[in-house]
Amino acid sequence: MTKFINARLKGKKELCEILVEKGKFKKIAQHIETDGAKITDLKGYLVVPPYVDPHIHLDYVFTSQMEGALNGSGTLFEGIQRWGETKDKIKPEEIRGRALKGVLKEVRNGVQFIRTHIDVTDPKLTGLKAMLELREQLKEYVTIQIVAFPQEGMYAYKGGDSLVEEALKMGADCVGAIPHYEFAREFGEKSIHKAVELAVKYDKLIDVHCDETDDTQSRFLELLNALVYSESIGRKTAASHTCSFGSADNSYAFRMLKQLYKSGINFISCPTENIYLQGRQDTYPKRRGLTRVKELNDAGINVCFAQDSMSDPWYPLGNGNLMNILDHGIHIAQMMSQTEIENALDLITVNGAKTMNIDDYGIEPGKSADFIVIEAKSEFEAVCERAGVLASVRNGEFLFTKEPAKYNNCSKLFSL
Ligand code: FE2
Repeated sequence: MTKFINARLKGKKELCEILVEKGKFKKIAQHIETDGAKITDLKGYLVVPPYVDPHIHLDYVFTSQMEGALNGSGTLFEGIQRWGETKDKIKPEEIRGRALKGVLKEVRNGVQFIRTHIDVTDPKLTGLKAMLELREQLKEYVTIQIVAFPQEGMYAYKGGDSLVEEALKMGADCVGAIPHYEFAREFGEKSIHKAVELAVKYDKLIDVHCDETDDTQSRFLELLNALVYSESIGRKTAASHTCSFGSADNSYAFRMLKQLYKSGINFISCPTENIYLQGRQDTYPKRRGLTRVKELNDAGINVCFAQDSMSDPWYPLGNGNLMNILDHGIHIAQMMSQTEIENALDLITVNGAKTMNIDDYGIEPGKSADFIVIEAKSEFEAVCERAGVLASVRNGEFLFTKEPAKYNNCSKLFSL
């Protein structure tokens, strides 16, 4: 048994004690009487559930410098082209090694739940096999969901739909699609129908790269939402990116908000990636490329932020630090009222877990004792300071701890 003392929990004025037994939260209260429990002092720092990254491409990480992978235009579509031209040269052990490095970067930043899209438009399914193995090997440290993602299209790539189905049979958790990349709107629609059909057939989650374009006529979200609503699987569905929804006219968008709320569909926005990739054909005014994060959130629709890339043909940076993603996201989406800042951490914690349909998540008795300790004394301070993670605890055990910075001679300044 371990008792974590002096924990600062969201919405609680007083510091709390957290009792953990056999890897589960047993009790959370201001004072807990225990006999013989190991005591760990959290020193009044903020304690929240682990960070969640619900959208990253672990088979692409650290490939930006690979020969032929350089994306000169900085557009999404050149990224897909460069990846398609170079992916055959990559060996399975290289994918595994880079994906592992990517996971470690996220874990050391306090992430314990990851959803990764894996390109299955590859007859050998090399990336998928590597990732299925890693998912199993790493489950003690991090929960990984895999999306069977047809990067080059279900139909634009010959046999893409069958490869998605094969990946689901092999153990992928979610059906993916990329309707805006199919060669005609009808094929995009067909891919959405197929994704929903496969999700129902194999009882899988859905995560579609949906309308990742500034084209205001790209409206696959409408079809996806209608289909998952009629199948009653909206809560098991995520629409990733939906950039064009940020460019849609208001009369269309506000009608859609009501329908999106009804289905319970989840939204994943990738702020650093999409502000970089989108608006490339704009001169000025230049669009931000993000979906309507603030309006979705205000309408009670679940929306979360994600990393998406780490140094791949789409995006040159990215380091798995979700606080960095959050900082960009709330600026770009203009979500900085006092209340929005105080609730901002939800966008990289509970909202992501809800999107991933993770039930065993949250600081409550009976759930797995997973949490992180942030170097801040309030939610506001955490966001304002872009505070780092001092510790990550999984099943009641520390994955890592870090010491706060020490101010040697500089400390005299603080007493002036
Ligand atoms: Fe993506």
